[in-house]
Parts: sequence; C-alpha cells; structure tokens
Amino acid sequence: MDEPDALRAWWMPFTHNRYFKQNPRLIASGKGSYYQLEDGRSVFDGVSGLWCCPLGHSPARVVAAIQKQVANLDFAPSFQMGHSAAFSLAQRIADFAKRPKDRVFFVNSGSEAVDTALKIALAFHRANGEPSRTRMIGRERGYHGAGLGGISVGGIPSNRKMFSPLMMPGVDHLPHTWNGTHMAYSRGQPAWGVHLAEELERLVTLHDASNIAAVIIEPMQGSAGVIVPPEGYLQRIRDICTRHGILLIFDEVITGCGRLGKPFAADYFNIKPDLITFAKAINNATVPLGGVLVDNAIYESLMSGPSHLIEFFHGYTYSGHPLAVAAAHATLDELSESNLIERAAELSPVLENAMHSLRGEPNVTDIRNLGLAAAVDVAPYSGAAGLRAIQVFEHALNNGLYVRYTADTLVLAPPFISTPTEIKTAVETLRKALQAQVK
Ligand SMILES: Cc1ncc(COP(=O)(O)O)c(C=O)c1O
Repeated sequence: MDEPDALRAWWMPFTHNRYFKQNPRLIASGKGSYYQLEDGRSVFDGVSGLWCCPLGHSPARVVAAIQKQVANLDFAPSFQMGHSAAFSLAQRIADFAKRPKDRVFFVNSGSEAVDTALKIALAFHRANGEPSRTRMIGRERGYHGAGLGGISVGGIPSNRKMFSPLMMPGVDHLPHTWNGTHMAYSRGQPAWGVHLAEELERLVTLHDASNIAAVIIEPMQGSAGVIVPPEGYLQRIRDICTRHGILLIFDEVITGCGRLGKPFAADYFNIKPDLITFAKAINNATVPLGGVLVDNAIYESLMSGPSHLIEFFHGYTYSGHPLAVAAAHATLDELSESNLIERAAELSPVLENAMHSLRGEPNVTDIRNLGLAAAVDVAPYSGAAGLRAIQVFEHALNNGLYVRYTADTLVLAPPFISTPTEIKTAVETLRKALQAQVK
C-alpha cells in the first residue's frame, strides 16, 4: 500500500486510514482556541477538539495542576484504597450538576460511562426485586460510544452493522427526532415532534414495563449532527419512564459541563434523569476521565449484603486516576472563576445567527443549533454520500478552520473562550468552503 512509513503502524479510530495516510493532517501543538499544524499553519479549533476542550488547549491552570499532581502522586489504586481528591471531586461534580445527594462512579471515557450506566440500571432492578427488567431502549441516530453496550443502544447503523453477534439482546430504539419537512432551519428547539415521545408508550405496551430496565438518550444528539429535541419531548419521555418505573439515563458526554450554557443539559431542560453520564469537557480532556452521576436511591438499593463484601462488581484500574482528577478540579475552578459557562450561553446567539446566515448557500439543506453547538447539512453527491462534507471540511481546514464532519453534516462547537469575532470568522470560512462546492 502506498503510505508513508512513519504513518504505517497506527490504525486510527473512526478515520479513513488509507486516505488520511496519503493526505495527512498532523497537529503539532495547541494553544488557546488554535491548533498549529505540522506544516506551520494555525487553525481555529471550531470543535473544541472533539467537543471536549471548552477552555481551549493547554490552559495554564490545568497544565499546572497536572504537573503538580504527577510529581506528588502519579497513580493510586481505587480498588479497596482511595485518595481524597477523587472523593472531593465526586461531591463537587454532584453539586455542579445540582444533584448534591447523587453518587459518582468514575471511569475513563464516555464509552465506559455508558456501559457503566447500563450495568447500574440492570443491577438496580435486580436488587430492587424486579430482575425481569432487562430490556434497554436507545434511539435511532444516538451515539453512546464504541463499547458493546454503547453500540447496542446506539443508533448509528455503520457503528453497528459488523458487530450484531456481539450486541446486547433485548434492545429497542425510539425513532430519532429529525424531520426535514417539519423542522428544517429551526432555531433552537423545533416546535414540531413532541408526539415522537409516544413511541415509548408503544414499546412499553409491546414488551410490558416489567421487562424494561432503562431508556438511554442524549438530550441533544451531538455526534449525529446536533439533532435538537422538540419542545416538550424530553419531559414526555421523563413522564412515561416515571409512570412505568423505567430508569432514564441522559448521556451527557457532549452536553455535560456547559455546552448548552448550563452545567448539564438536565438543568437546561429542567428534567431529572435517574443517571447522567459525563466525560470529555469535565477536565478539558487533558487526561481521560468520565463518570456516571447516580441518584442516591439507586446507590442505596445496591448497598446490601455483608459490609465486608464488594457491592457492585465493576470498575477500571484507572477509575479516579489522580492526574485526571487534578485536571477536573482545575477545569471546574477555571469554568467558574472565569464565568465560562455563562460565556458559552452568551456566545450561543452569536453562533446561531452566524450559522443560520448560511441558509441559501450552495447545497445547504438544513441548519440546526442549540447552546454553543450548530450543524449544517449539505446535499450528498449521488452515489458518494459523505464526499461533499469531506471537501467542505478540507477547504475550511486549508483556510484556517477545523470543523467536524459526519456523513454530510458539518458541525461547529467552539471553545467557550472563543470571541464573537472568532465565531463569525469561522462561519465565514465555512461559507467560502460551501461556495467552493458549486459544481
Ligand atoms: C453522547 C456520547 N456518549 C458517549 C461517547 C463516547 O465517548 P468516548 O469517545 O470518550 O468513549 C460520545 C463520544 O463522542 C458521545 O458523544
């Protein structure tokens, strides 16, 4: 295969490896809202890395906290031992989420957070005397990471199709909530679509609630391209779950930690899920860290049996890793002292107005936004789905902007430290990239 030796060995994740190795895009360093590429160009990071660096890159406070931590305690086992900063971080995250009685289970990624939440849901029902509650309900187009639990409840066909023999049995999917006829170019939450939540009642009737453990959804679907929940939809899902004793899991790996201008989307939408997964922005992605916020009643129900025995057989070597924990404390300090979540809320209309000004540009078929996230769909080439978005992405990158694309959707989710001018400039760069597509 014609590929540079230097790039041969790394089999890259979620990447067109052959194309990439012939057209490498290598990042040399990052500072603030910008990446420096190895060829010397500076590009605005329009996606906060992968939705995970709200403070921009290498923020001084977080760098210093990690450096101090590694010199003092590089690793501490969290099986039958512990370190204080992980305990204080757990309480801090519960307070930050405005769920001070919650318990927090630490993991190392969004995928692990999802698998952990699914396991907690199963264990809870078993401990609660309802072991037949094992079915899980996800949603079409949902992304819940790459673990086997996550792809089972996830709804992105290409992530699932090769692995069906390994997937969890007993999983159903709610319909996704995007509809081009009824909600194209909605600003924020679409007015149409609350009735789609009633599909959950249909599944409950089909299977009986006594067989259903949990519903897992992203409050706003991120990876599928900023699919925003219709007004009233999440509340309707919450009500149906409550009525039937089904646990509601919000996967907030993207929406958690400020992306919607509130600490969590649960807060933004004023809904109380039973479990919330988080990762990414919680420590600015400097050291892998994720977790699950768990309603105290769920935790309590699992604290049974002799007290010298392990109650929940689950965990990871790196759960509560000291460097990840130190980075999270520093990130939360910086978010609050610099009012960055409020800033994300203030920047949200700037992004909304700029992105919706792309309506009418060549091949644009929809634009969506919520909080500091927005997406534009472009019409696919016939017979070559995804190619147009790659071309737009490459044009933007060559002109100083890193955006994210999946299928034929381009996404912007800039760092919270961005300025209004940077956001407007990024959208103008995207406009030029769209205009370059006229063929
Ligand atoms: C909603 C959601 N859940 C889970 C994940 C998986 O996270 P990770 O890549 O850290 O495993 C992601 C990643 O983008 C996500 O957006």
